[in-house]
Amino acid sequence: MEDHIRFNEQDAVLDLLDQRKLPGVEERFLCRTTADVVYALQTMVVRGAPAIGVSAAFGCAVALAETHGRDWQTSLPKKMAAIRQARPTAVNLAWAVDRMEALWKANAGLGYADLLACFIAEARRLQQEDIASCKAIGRFGLPCVHDNDTILTHCNAGALATAGYGTALGVVRAAFERYKGIKVIADETRPFLQGARLTAWELAKDGIPVTVACDNACALLMSKGLVQCVVVGADRIAANGDTANKIGTFGVALLARHFGIPFYVAAPVSTIDPATPTGASIPIEERTPLEVTTIGAAQITPDGVPVYNFAFDVTPAELIAGIITDRGLLKAPYAEAIQALF
Ligand code: MRU
Repeated sequence: MEDHIRFNEQDAVLDLLDQRKLPGVEERFLCRTTADVVYALQTMVVRGAPAIGVSAAFGCAVALAETHGRDWQTSLPKKMAAIRQARPTAVNLAWAVDRMEALWKANAGLGYADLLACFIAEARRLQQEDIASCKAIGRFGLPCVHDNDTILTHCNAGALATAGYGTALGVVRAAFERYKGIKVIADETRPFLQGARLTAWELAKDGIPVTVACDNACALLMSKGLVQCVVVGADRIAANGDTANKIGTFGVALLARHFGIPFYVAAPVSTIDPATPTGASIPIEERTPLEVTTIGAAQITPDGVPVYNFAFDVTPAELIAGIITDRGLLKAPYAEAIQALF
């Protein structure tokens, strides 16, 4: 699946598959303004680190087009800053906007129409690069899995979370192409249910066997020998290998260590942030309590009781068996392996 992020050049509209409505309804969400782009990122119409990076790059083109060429030199930086700040944890968002900003700087003499064409071409390039990255991650991840393995994954690090193919699910897809005995357990991933709704949807669509499990079943499943390997995605990898990913990932990594199951992170190099020294400096997004206190229209907690809704946690590097990137498999010590990459 590679068409969940589309860009209509004629009208400069970013056209997204609305991930909030999956798996029940396949509906598109159109972003015609910067405010639409920010809204789509914040409410998770589109989510997943690489996918928000690609969407943000197209979002910069929407932001420029919205000016219709009037006063754009003054207003564009503010619009791009709003996109950059839409979500704090996944570094791909800032990385993509920075890349568009650098392009603008390098082509400072261009007029409105030429810069718009330049932005659109760059965003398309980024989209294609991300698909190629995911396929490379799949290839580099192959030695980490074996025929008949059941791979447990948390959240959705699949085609929907990238420009296509996926990072953690890129490894699953490559392994399934090679060995037909691969199976997946998708943690449901409370509260937004990316595993139950999105991972299960895209794997089932591709005919890859997937079973959904409640997040709190992980220890039991591992103790029963039902999991041979864990592969998850990442939102930001610090310079020492500490990895932020969807809330609950750290717990899965601790359980994997307890049961002697290898725990891998799969992510493109664009998710590694050499400017963040350790996981302690990764900003952790806190989202609306409503995601926890309600299911659909029904409130499930008593009135007035506060909740925690941290969207991510940080898995310390020492729990990670390997980081599968688009430039190869990184092994500990990660600080050295990461330094060598940059
Ligand atoms: O809040 P989300 O759904 O954007 O969080 C997504 C994740 O945590 C993914 O695992 C991560 O971005 C990797 S996506 C290839």
